[in-house]
Amino acid sequence: MPHDLLVRDAALPDGRAGLDIAVRDGRIVAIERDIGGEAARVIHAAGRLVAPPFVDAHFHMDATLSLGLPRLNQSGTLLEGIALWGELKPHLTFEAIVERALRYCDLAVSQGLLAIRSHVDVCDDRLLAVDALLEVKRRVSPYLDLQLVAFPQDGYYRSPNAAANLVRALDRGVEVVGGIPHFERTMEQGAASVRALCELAAARGLRVDLHCDETDDPLSRHVETLAFETQRLGLQGRVTGSHLTSMHSMDNYYVSKLIPLIAESGMSVIANPLINIVIQGRHDTYPKRRGMTRAPELAEAGIPCAFGHDCVMDPWYALGSGDMLDVAHMAIHVAQMTGRDAMRSAFDAVTAIPARIMGLEGYGLEVGANADFVVLQARDPIEAIRLKAARLFVVRRGRVIAETPQRITTLDLQGRPRSLDPASYAPALRDERAPL
Ligand code: FE2
Repeated sequence: MPHDLLVRDAALPDGRAGLDIAVRDGRIVAIERDIGGEAARVIHAAGRLVAPPFVDAHFHMDATLSLGLPRLNQSGTLLEGIALWGELKPHLTFEAIVERALRYCDLAVSQGLLAIRSHVDVCDDRLLAVDALLEVKRRVSPYLDLQLVAFPQDGYYRSPNAAANLVRALDRGVEVVGGIPHFERTMEQGAASVRALCELAAARGLRVDLHCDETDDPLSRHVETLAFETQRLGLQGRVTGSHLTSMHSMDNYYVSKLIPLIAESGMSVIANPLINIVIQGRHDTYPKRRGMTRAPELAEAGIPCAFGHDCVMDPWYALGSGDMLDVAHMAIHVAQMTGRDAMRSAFDAVTAIPARIMGLEGYGLEVGANADFVVLQARDPIEAIRLKAARLFVVRRGRVIAETPQRITTLDLQGRPRSLDPASYAPALRDERAPL
């Protein structure tokens, strides 16, 4: 039987190279050398990296592409962003949210980003954004997995109807329980919200993903309660602490106790490097804190640690392009993850790790998995991050759903090459044990 698609001479993120990938009926049926037989379509990867799709486990699709509505964030702070979003909320329409979200999903697909966990604000009694993003989830499902988190942006207790609205959102089909303990009125209310939200998730068999301690206040310790509740309620593997930026500023002694507790609890973590580096430290003079959580130390302790995009052109962040390589690139700089293993792990933090956090089924480059992958204009994950390499082919269930031409520059320089492929310029790393 002929294959639907055959990728020739692929390099995989784990370092294996020279492999073919055969696809039939939307699934990977073989990954080996020199696969024979006919195929309806052949992609010649020519030694380039073929990776599973990018996954963004922390995003806000109800706010994306709303930059400038009704005005720009002048202070650059989280709190002005929340206030600005509050000004925009009464003017939102179902159609506008759907349209912006669909446009973002187009952009995401073009970047090989095929799974997104998006928080959706439930503090608007109309639940307009919830209904809009449920509609978007349905419409994009053939090409993108959209998972929604019921997110009480203005506080689970602090906003009058948030608790009831959150339950209404879950009843309508939102799958994950969200929260924002550091935005509640007191530490006690924050801790109580963590407890209540975890209990709600446990009762309904759902996952939890809280915006947790997104502050420079080293005494914001809701993560401690989240880890405790994860264990108490048997939610291991289903709970995520997003941001955890206060950990950046915490006392080292306390962190030395905290990280093992998080590891023991079975929680996962999502840092959002682009947002953390611009939103945190806004009250500092110099030196200015970076604000991102202690990602390498968390990962070192065996805690699944993903990197999310969080925002693209919205009240909190004016930049962004749906490019998870941009996210990984920033993470490496902010966390000084410049060792080669650390850089490779940054690639995992925008692919396999968030896929695990979202509970995606059939994800990964292995026989039997969904035939979802990206062919990049790079030879390995480090080069992909360095160049924010072009996504030459994006494949979903064996079908090419996005195609971008190679980035090749024509040069006109006397005595120099006529063309330049940026992916061909990295020096081949030598074996340091061998003599020069
Ligand atoms: Fe967020």
